Amino acid sequence: MRIAVYPGSFDPVTKGHIDIIERSAKIADKLYVAVFINNEKKPLFTMEERKQLLRRVLGHLDNVEIVAFEGLLVNFVKQVNADVIIKGLRDSKDFEYEFQMAHANRIMYDGAETLFMPSSPGVQYLSSSIVREIARYNGNLDGLVPECIQKDIYDKIGG
Ligand code: PNS
Repeated sequence: MRIAVYPGSFDPVTKGHIDIIERSAKIADKLYVAVFINNEKKPLFTMEERKQLLRRVLGHLDNVEIVAFEGLLVNFVKQVNADVIIKGLRDSKDFEYEFQMAHANRIMYDGAETLFMPSSPGVQYLSSSIVREIARYNGNLDGLVPECIQKDIYDKIGG
């Protein structure tokens, strides 16, 4: 049984995340989408809201479970006995940062491998912060997030 973890903030989930999740779910028997609680950053959506949006857009994937995690990623990886940490790469900036994190994670725990998955063309330049920025000015989110969560984002940003 091949267990994978795809961690992130998902504030909110974008089509870029969904691209990586759908492709990872094909190569893992079980995929945990792990939503990170970062006490230093104030997210737009609460943990429960981020999980709900993920559940709504990932309902078609039977082997995906959405969970919250706090603290070090490697502790969660150990807890669920995962074999693989999946990281999506959009560009060389992501690579620089993720390579460093993969290295640190490997030093802390060598029981799981980090695998880098390149973003699909078309969703390469998406990020949650761009989604929040466009929504703030009531811009069109069609290419960035699924239709079924767009209202939640406008409502949240609009206050
Ligand atoms: O979606 P994001 O914000 O780019 O995700 C970043 C995340 C949550 C994957 C990363 O910050 C993380 O793994 N945080 C947990 C703390 C940790 O384990 N850090 C690695 C030590 S170098």
